[in-house]
Amino acid sequence: MVRETSASQGNFQEKASMAPMMQSKESTMKAMRFHEFGGPEVLCYEDVPKPVPEFGQALVRVKAASINRIDIWAEKGIYYKPSLPHIPGSDAAGVVEEVNAGDESFIGGKVIVYPTLACFHCRLCIEGSHNLCTNRKTLGAHVNGSYSEYITVPIKNLMRMPEALKFEEAAALPLTFTTAYHMLVDRAKLQPHETVLVLGAGSGVGSAAIQIASLLGANVIATSSTEEKLRKAQRIGADVAVNYAEEGWVDEVMAATNNKGVDVVIDHIGAATFAKSIKCLAKNGRLVTCGVTSGNEATIDIRELFSSQRSILGSVQGTMKDFIAVAKLAADGKIKPLLDSVYPLRDARKAQERLLSRQSFGKIVLVP
Ligand SMILES: NC(=O)c1ccc[n+]([C@@H]2O[C@H](COP(=O)([O-])OP(=O)(O)OC[C@H]3O[C@@H](n4cnc5c(N)ncnc54)[C@H](OP(=O)(O)O)[C@@H]3O)[C@@H](O)[C@H]2O)c1
Ligand SMILES: [Zn+2]
Repeated sequence: MVRETSASQGNFQEKASMAPMMQSKESTMKAMRFHEFGGPEVLCYEDVPKPVPEFGQALVRVKAASINRIDIWAEKGIYYKPSLPHIPGSDAAGVVEEVNAGDESFIGGKVIVYPTLACFHCRLCIEGSHNLCTNRKTLGAHVNGSYSEYITVPIKNLMRMPEALKFEEAAALPLTFTTAYHMLVDRAKLQPHETVLVLGAGSGVGSAAIQIASLLGANVIATSSTEEKLRKAQRIGADVAVNYAEEGWVDEVMAATNNKGVDVVIDHIGAATFAKSIKCLAKNGRLVTCGVTSGNEATIDIRELFSSQRSILGSVQGTMKDFIAVAKLAADGKIKPLLDSVYPLRDARKAQERLLSRQSFGKIVLVP
């Protein structure tokens, strides 16, 4: 049941009072917002103050937003603790309505948003590592996000939307594809002749990683939890699909590699798989980790690392360059955002419940 409440004075109101006189005609908008930490039940469909673009920002009318696991963490107050009330949502595609001191040719244009809010002037940003920016924030986790009719974002974070994509597809692209690309290309430095094991094919990151790894020419082994999802994994590029809900899945992976192991593992599942992922690695193999869906603590046998010269690599989001690369691949039709389902914004609770039920494959999208 969706609760409707009237607009309250929130962060947006404070922002509006400081911002230049660019107030749009309507001063409120609909958004899915939470006032306390918890599960999907804390989301309320509300009238909230419409944001006003600050210097260097654009006002984007959100045409589609997609759901990520990070929304769940921010909502629970785990790993991220935004100030309340808060609007989640890291991924957005929409139309630019206003810009405050920036490239006005964006106005009226379709855009996708790079969700990593970097300062663009610290040493790491200048080196191109926007994902490691000293002042990094993430749209929807630290500041109000895309579960709303409008967002304000830095103009530097906008990219023109590939013509080939619908808004729903474009919104499914930014966070997970950029993260998967960064893991495979920048961190693992995956080579065409190598074998990669992608865990959790049903996830946003997993379904993106399968496509990108396959495109790079690697041999892809994917795991998932149901036979139906395994078939879908094969349809998007997995050469071998293994059910990791069953005991003995590590043996299956080893058998698929003639007991050599895989060169790269893409692990975002965390506690439930981490130790086993290491066992799946070949000599000189690299495990790249970006997530802890099943928990953030694992016990490993350190000897399994050094005796076969295996490496563990952390990975966080992606650089602007990765984001551009991903958008180009999508524009060229080489990768395709996979839509599991599309919900009206006001049904965001149901949409998140679907994500938590582990039934989805690919991305769940919200349309205001
Ligand atoms: N470091 C970063 O920059 C970064 C960026 C993006 C995401 N992440 C992290 O990467 C992970 C994946 O993100 P996402 O948004 O792609 O995830 P998601 O779409 O929420 O993934 C859901 C899928 O995860 C799999 N899964 C495995 N174990 C699960 C469990 N215990 N409970 C529920 N689902 C489980 C299921 O697929 P199967 O049935 O196929 O197993 C499920 O359908 C998250 O932990 C997220 O926080 C990190
Ligand atoms: Zn920076």
